[in-house]
This record gives sequence, C-alpha cells and structure tokens, in this order.
Amino acid sequence: MNLAKNVMQRIDALGKISEDPHCLTRRFCSPAMKETNELVGSWMREAGMTVRQDAIGNVIGHYPANQADAKIFLLGSHLDTVRDAGRFDGPLGVLVAIACVQMLHEKKLRLPFAIEVVGFSDEEGVRYQTAYLGSNALAGSFDSNDLMRLDADAISMSDAIRNFGGNPNQIKQLRLNPERLLGYAEVHIEQGPVLEKKNLSIGIVSAIAGQTRAKIRFVGRAGHAGTTPMNLRKDALCAAAEFILSVENHAKEIRGLVATVGQTETKPGASNVIPACVILSLDIRHQEDPQRIKAEKVLRRTARDIARRRKTQLRWEAVQETGAVPCSPKLSQLLMSAARSHGDCILNLPSGAGHDAAVISKITPVAMLFVRCKEGISHHPNESVKVDDVRVAIAVMNEFLQLLAKEK
Ligand code: GLV
Ligand code: MN
Ligand code: MN
Repeated sequence: MNLAKNVMQRIDALGKISEDPHCLTRRFCSPAMKETNELVGSWMREAGMTVRQDAIGNVIGHYPANQADAKIFLLGSHLDTVRDAGRFDGPLGVLVAIACVQMLHEKKLRLPFAIEVVGFSDEEGVRYQTAYLGSNALAGSFDSNDLMRLDADAISMSDAIRNFGGNPNQIKQLRLNPERLLGYAEVHIEQGPVLEKKNLSIGIVSAIAGQTRAKIRFVGRAGHAGTTPMNLRKDALCAAAEFILSVENHAKEIRGLVATVGQTETKPGASNVIPACVILSLDIRHQEDPQRIKAEKVLRRTARDIARRRKTQLRWEAVQETGAVPCSPKLSQLLMSAARSHGDCILNLPSGAGHDAAVISKITPVAMLFVRCKEGISHHPNESVKVDDVRVAIAVMNEFLQLLAKEK
C-alpha cells in the first residue's frame, strides 16, 4: 500500500485512542498509552522489527544491520499528547520512521547499522508536569526524585509506571551507550506557519529552543467574600493575576522570548471564599540560554515584589530546565542532501517547541526534519498535515538513511 496514505490512516487510528471520549488526550502511562504501544508495536513487527517496551514505557522497534556488532541509528518521536491534542504532534515522527523501515523490509534491504525506532512515552509532561521522561531515561538523565511526583489523582509516578508494566527500579539501566550510537533523527510537524508561508513541504531544524518550567505558589488567606473589607484581604488569586500579566508584558518586551502560564489551580475554589492559595505553571523559552536564564531571574523578582506588596507568600519551585540544543551540522547536511535529491527547496529553521531530540542530543548527534502543517496550528485538535508532505518526508528520510549507509 502507499506508505504515506498508510501513515495517515495510522494517524487516524492513533487519534482515536484517548483517555477522554470527547477529545484526544493521551498521558504518560495511561491505559490509552498502553493500547497505543500495543498497536504501534504491531506495526513495528509488520515492518520487520523486533519490539520491546522498556521500563519507563517507551516502545522500541529494532531492525537489525547487515553485519554483526554494528552501531545503532535512532529514529522516533513521542506517543503521548497534550490535552485536547491534534493527531500529528509526536505520532507523525514515529509513523514516518516505521514507514522507512517498512520500505527497507519490503525490499529485503539491511543497512550497515541497525535502526531503532522509539515511540517515547512522555514528551509533553502533562501528567507529572515534568517533560521528556522517556528520552531522559534513554539519555541517562532521568531524575529519580521525579518518581515521587503525584498526578492530579495523587497517583505517584512510581505507581503509574508499575501499573503500566514498567519498572521504576530499572530506569537507570535504560541509558543507551553513546559508543554504540550513530545518531538520532526525528520528523515532526513544524507547529508554526513558516513552511506554509514559504510554500515548502519540509524544513531542516537548526536548533531547539531551551526551556525552563517552574511551579509557583502564591499563598494568602481565605476569608468570607461578603464580610472581609477589601483593604484587609490577602487574596492569592489577585496576586497571581498580577503576576500572569507581568509574565506576558515581560515576554513582549524581550525579542525572541516566549513565556506562558498554562495552568492555574485556585484553593479553596468557591465563589464566596477569598482565594487562599493559587498554584501556577510557568514555561519560559528562548533560543539563547542567557536570555532565558535572565528572564527567569526577572520574573522571580517580579513575583517576590508582588507577593510582598500584597502580603502573600511566594514559593517558587524549579521543575525542569533544558538548554538550547543545536542540531548536528553533519547529520543536518545529510538531511539537506537527501532533501535536495528530491527536488525540494530547503529552509533552515529554529524550533520553539521542545522535542525528544533535545534530550537525546546528550548522548548522540541529532537532526530534525519539520513537516509543514496547516496555518501553523498545533497543540489543538485542528492540527493538519497533507498526505503529499508526508510522502516527501518519507522519501527524504529514506534517502537520508541511504546516504548515511554510503558513508559507513
Ligand atoms: C512540547 O510540545 C513543548 O514544546 O512543550
Ligand atoms: Mn507537543
Ligand atoms: Mn511534539
């Protein structure tokens, strides 16, 4: 069957596997993720791979090399989603990778390196607010303290992993040996409007922006909404609201900076009670690490000032920090040559979104291919990619693997 059409059908099939019957939501170690891993595993087997699910829930297909003791080239992306997600963010990269291996398998071709296709179990960080759990495990940078984190239903990460069939005690052993790796390449939807504006199917990623995530708590005092005079209140939500607007204002002032408060929780959360506590998430990104670090300092100072002025207390918890990552010039050059031989005009572009590639770069060189998406929409159910662009991505990735094989 036509491989690109097949990828689109599989995208639709995965788009139906959700924790929520009304929209697509697939969090780390959820029952929906289990069903997804089984289905993706069956497609990997069909493409000639042996399949394993590792201790943190990554599903990994192995396609052997044409020689013993060969190194491994990694392909893949993530299979978890945000809440009310689109169908392409993550799965597209896994399915294009499987399609490339399928092509080799059908032609009975093996390369001088093994290929491993990874469906990462968590990139979005929706369930435990800390992203990249799957890729951090393979890169050897998984933080065991995270195992104690609780999700919204008070289920610890440890228990979630165990219930999923993983093993929290074996995560440290998942680290891949960098000496055995040749590199990693990830196909992903662009999640921005540039390729569409330039009328290009694909683009090559130059670098991935760094990001800082923090959990911020303003603590005031609960009180009666009808009887407490305005000048005697310690309203945590008003403090948080002031802070959220200063986040937006600061990000608008600094070129290239983006900062988002995406989650808020207000306690006790009743219309006739003055809010006593507000918990916020903060996500700060910039292509240049010093700018991101400076922004975090400024916003922390702002939060302190607001808290002091409004007689509330502030707790600032650093959740995660990932530095900006340049893609490998050598692998990107190969991708570029592969794209050129398919007649595609090429653009180098930076990624504002985070990707598993950023973490995998700690152990091996990485490259990324972006695929045009409609109106740059992502993290939204209207995410859309054209089948013709998927066809180009498969052809370019296949050519890339052939070029890599020639180099060996
Ligand atoms: C992942 O999609 C991220 O960039 O937050
Ligand atoms: Mn995403
Ligand atoms: Mn993604």
